[in-house]
Amino acid sequence: MPIDFNDPLRPIRFWFRGEIRSVTAVSPTRSVLQWLREDEAATGTKEGCGEGDCGACTVVIGSRDDSAPEGLRLEAVNSCIQFLPTLDGKALFTIEDLARDGELHPLQQAMVDAHASQCGFCTPGIVMSLWADHENRRQAPSRAELCEALSGNLCRCTGYRPILDAAEAAWRTPCGKLARAPIRAALEDLAAEPSLHYSHDKAVFHAPRSLEALAALRLARPDARLLAGSTDVGLWVNKQLKELPELIYLGAVDELKHLHFSEEWLEIGAAVTLSDAFAALTRLDPGWQELGLRFASRPVRNAGTLGGNVANGSPIGDSMPGLIACRARVVLQQGPTTRELPLEDFYLGYQKTALQSGEFIRALRIPRYLGKPGETRMFRSWKVSKRQDQDISAVCAAFALCFDDIGQIQGARIALGGMAPTPRRALQAERALHGQVFDLRAVELAMAALEADFQPIDDLRASAAYRMQVARNLLRRLWMEYQNQQWLRIDEVSA
Ligand SMILES: Cc1cc2nc3c(=O)[nH]c(=O)nc-3n(C[C@H](O)[C@H](O)[C@H](O)COP(=O)(O)OP(=O)(O)OC[C@H]3O[C@@H](n4cnc5c(N)ncnc54)[C@H](O)[C@@H]3O)c2cc1C
Ligand code: FES
Ligand code: FES
Repeated sequence: MPIDFNDPLRPIRFWFRGEIRSVTAVSPTRSVLQWLREDEAATGTKEGCGEGDCGACTVVIGSRDDSAPEGLRLEAVNSCIQFLPTLDGKALFTIEDLARDGELHPLQQAMVDAHASQCGFCTPGIVMSLWADHENRRQAPSRAELCEALSGNLCRCTGYRPILDAAEAAWRTPCGKLARAPIRAALEDLAAEPSLHYSHDKAVFHAPRSLEALAALRLARPDARLLAGSTDVGLWVNKQLKELPELIYLGAVDELKHLHFSEEWLEIGAAVTLSDAFAALTRLDPGWQELGLRFASRPVRNAGTLGGNVANGSPIGDSMPGLIACRARVVLQQGPTTRELPLEDFYLGYQKTALQSGEFIRALRIPRYLGKPGETRMFRSWKVSKRQDQDISAVCAAFALCFDDIGQIQGARIALGGMAPTPRRALQAERALHGQVFDLRAVELAMAALEADFQPIDDLRASAAYRMQVARNLLRRLWMEYQNQQWLRIDEVSA
């Protein structure tokens, strides 16, 4: 169906090296990294894996955000999986921006002084991750916080001890921070321009700015691919060499980026980044914190969205077990019409969801309270994978239990990823726990019931037997943590 764009085709425009750059004549799926290295000869930013895994390509993106210092948010992301048009209206910083007047930035100097680089291939990416972290903090981070800032940066030869030493040393050196206000002002001017409809060589990229415009566009162009953080879609282009002739970008729709705590719900807009979504979920229940740190890496969480994770519907997607255990609902929109489904009903089969033609995910709604007033609750979500950071789950499990005042389980919701073609509830195990006191006998019954709930498969990541053993063991871990009374009273949960 033809669509009448009120906004004209125009170049991609973003702040780079102190000025607004206008770019045309590049494919909408050209990555920021390709543009930097091949078109701009800005080769300080390196290419390693091309799939968001190694961090050699880390750059920092600035975007308008009234809650950030001077209204400018700064975040490290992987430039190899970001398409250039997603920069429209934003600011791009690379390693070449750090040294001033021939002097290295204190972070760079500290890397030299601490012998924190050998081959140097990872070094620009590591410095950019540390720079974003440095810019965003008021006080020196702990060693653990520095490790987390580097969770997306792989160094194969130096080892992390000197890198962490350098990062700590940089905090002991007086160091000016970026003047964000003029950049924010420049981005404000860009925001006053019409929204982006960009086209090159028959490929099209739309970046609507309102929910209404998005809904109309989605309805008119149901075959166009929705693009949010591009941490899945970017790999389809880089690794599967997929052609994406038409993209509808969600990142310019502010209404999809809202986070709202009401009396009943936490509502998370579909385009809220994973970093912000996990922070909000952790405010709702500290049981989310560990998963939030184990999901991918910081740069992937800064770009990827909760809506994208849910829509992608991978059987090993990490947010869904927790969301399902917490009774999350997914809000879908098609044109002006919205509907809501329990998240568990959204998944119909392997990579098959209830999304209809012209429909998109608008938000996730997570109930503030799991049980009845006076009940106590316990929520945990754990991911088991071969590496601590940046790895894909063999199994991801989430448990939400509510107890009455005599300690009987009045509500049990257990959901697992990696055990079936979709993230799924363990209904038999839930039944085994219902009405029981949470003791060793009850947990053993629930562990046995898991065998009736799932028939996992063998694949490269894990054998079926291993997955089942892990799922059973996580139930036992839940019981052990319960023994330690590390659980919350409902009325203590505040947001
Ligand atoms: C290095 C690396 C590590 C990763 N680690 C993990 C991990 O630990 N755990 C994990 O679960 N995932 C992981 N992922 C996968 C990915 O980061 C997540 O699935 C992420 O949440 C996808 O979100 P996105 O915004 O980037 O989606 P995109 O890549 O932009 O889109 C993904 C899919 O969702 C669709 N879509 C997006 N938004 C909507 C919407 N609002 N409505 C309808 N459809 C929509 C798109 O059309 C596309 O089909 C990793 C990816 C990388 C590159
Ligand atoms: S090149 Fe490895 S993360 Fe981008
Ligand atoms: S210095 Fe060689 S990979 Fe880090």
